[in-house]
Amino acid sequence: MTVRTLAAAIEEELVDVESQLREVGEADFPWLGELLAHVLSPAGKRARPIITLLVGKLFRYDRALHIPMAVAVELLHTASLVHDDTVDDSATRRGQGTVNELWGTDVAVLLGDYLCSTENVRVVQLFSRTLRDLAEGELREINRSFDWTQGEQPYWQRVEKKTSSLFATAAQSGAILGGASEHEVQALRDYGLALGTAFQVIDDILDFDGDPSDVGKPVGSDLLQGVLTLPTLIYLDRYAPTDRQDGPFAVLRFGQPTDDERGDLLRAAIAEVRSSSAVSDAREVAETHAARARDALSRVQSGEAPMQALNEIVDFVVDRDR
Ligand code: FPP
Ligand code: MG
Repeated sequence: MTVRTLAAAIEEELVDVESQLREVGEADFPWLGELLAHVLSPAGKRARPIITLLVGKLFRYDRALHIPMAVAVELLHTASLVHDDTVDDSATRRGQGTVNELWGTDVAVLLGDYLCSTENVRVVQLFSRTLRDLAEGELREINRSFDWTQGEQPYWQRVEKKTSSLFATAAQSGAILGGASEHEVQALRDYGLALGTAFQVIDDILDFDGDPSDVGKPVGSDLLQGVLTLPTLIYLDRYAPTDRQDGPFAVLRFGQPTDDERGDLLRAAIAEVRSSSAVSDAREVAETHAARARDALSRVQSGEAPMQALNEIVDFVVDRDR
């Protein structure tokens, strides 16, 4: 199942989005066109533009406003992934080589910048705030890497910034452009925030128990890079007592491993988290955020197909394996 099969209510609109994304890729500078075609290929789930369009359909849908917004949301998301892969030095994304791997980090940084632009003046403020949030979230992540004492709170702060913020913008902008009331705009922002949080928790779980050929990127890479996500934080809190003397986490937390030892310790630590119940505990947490997203939707009166699809997206996000 993909998000797209849930989106029958906006099938034609999605064709418009794909064609505008292709147009973005038709730059008059052929090499740039090649780079854009690579990152904007339909391999992405298109979850964020689908949300903008479905929310638009709950209110006064306007093709001239909602399609460019949906395209802009996908471009910003793509930009953030191109930059993220550069920061992480990742080689694969969506089952294909990353821009930094294929063309180098200089090209990836500049392509990410290029994709960040939007010509839609109505949403410039919302966009610039989201861009700032994404960058802040990523900086928070870097700042806390290899910090074994951080606890969960910094994790939730960075998730809100680096992921939930863009889902919130996708939903909120669809509502604003559709002329929704303040109350409805807030409900949809809350939907996006909660959905984005569930999405990121599942992403972090898939880094432990996903199949690389399904997720289209390597698994086990977060902890290897020193990024402590929810399964690790739960494991450290509940299953790795601080008085324990042995095991990879004990050495990582209290010892002074050399760089050579650290890689092996991190791989052993990943195996410990993977075989513990921290992963299923984290899944339960994702479910609580999914329930919040459904509650937020219930604050908006509409029994129509787009509402059903927005609810189904919540199910998809927590059930997905990619
Ligand atoms: C992917 O998540 C990355 C993000 C959700 C945000 C990345 C944000 C930036 C790089 C800030 C700069 C953004 C722009 C638009 C210039 P992840 O790292 O948790 O997952 P993944 O790497 O495993 O896919
Ligand atoms: Mg990353």
